[in-house]
Amino acid sequence: MSGLVLVTGASGKTGKSLVAQLQAQGAAYRAATRGSEPPFDWTAPQTWDAALDGVGAIYLVAPPTVDDPYSKMIEFLKVAGSRRLVFLGMASLPAGGPAHGQVHQWLKDNSDDWAVVAPSAFMQNFAEGSHLATIRGEDAIYSNTEDGRVPFISADDIARAAFALLTGPAGQNREFLVTGGEAMSYDQVAEQIGQARGRPVAHVRISTDDLAARFIQRGLPELTARFLAAGYETIAAGAHAQTSDDYGALTGRAAITFEAFAQANAEVWRP
Ligand SMILES: NC(=O)c1ccc[n+]([C@@H]2O[C@H](COP(=O)([O-])OP(=O)(O)OC[C@H]3O[C@@H](n4cnc5c(N)ncnc54)[C@H](OP(=O)(O)O)[C@@H]3O)[C@@H](O)[C@H]2O)c1
Repeated sequence: MSGLVLVTGASGKTGKSLVAQLQAQGAAYRAATRGSEPPFDWTAPQTWDAALDGVGAIYLVAPPTVDDPYSKMIEFLKVAGSRRLVFLGMASLPAGGPAHGQVHQWLKDNSDDWAVVAPSAFMQNFAEGSHLATIRGEDAIYSNTEDGRVPFISADDIARAAFALLTGPAGQNREFLVTGGEAMSYDQVAEQIGQARGRPVAHVRISTDDLAARFIQRGLPELTARFLAAGYETIAAGAHAQTSDDYGALTGRAAITFEAFAQANAEVWRP
């Protein structure tokens, strides 16, 4: 692959880790966010050409705070033309389906050098995402997942998988299911975080409507909030407990365990 790696979402959970990995390996890259130089905005097509200058491969992150980012991404991909494209999808949203599935389908139909990194839920949702404030302030994690289990994956490991796909052999042209090695319930997550920080955390079971209201309060567009909350509800039904070997095959490593992640972040969760 020749040319720069363009990292969209470069200030986000997986993007910042990918930037650090590219830097550590001496790979040429351009970080692309609204605050970068040049600035890049999915909603401002006049920023796209400068971001694409000299670029050979693109890491594509759909921002959760933009209403329907998927149609904007597809417009951008038409402008980008022939480059390597690695898209951060979602394990539960296949090609042709709604949301991320639209971009996945577009890649299948239009690119000859693409990959989708489809992760299960991020460990970082607890350490820098939606659950951090309530763990710190209320000793609680609120969810509608009941006893459902998820093989949580670290954003650093997702970035490692993306790095392999952006810099490795061309023409993978498929989805990679990127999961941790062990599916865990939110009760187990609460217990491990409590143990790591030395102060108990409760998993408080709430309805899907209440979860959506919490997402809206955090600034997510209403449609996205309702869609996400409904997605989390399917965890309760056991729809997302599947683990995969794709991460090991891509990187030659084992994904970090939740226990190790909790130990590494113990300080973040202390009140
Ligand atoms: N969290 C999970 O468990 C999970 C699981 C599977 C898939 N995903 C997917 O992962 C993706 C990232 O989600 P996340 O919550 O982890 O977010 P994130 O990557 O931590 O943050 C979003 C990134 O998008 C950038 N951004 C926001 N608005 C933008 C705009 N208008 N133009 C350009 N860049 C913009 C932000 O940069 P600036 O604000 O600096 O511009 C930031 O770097 C989403 O598509 C989500 O569906 C998440």
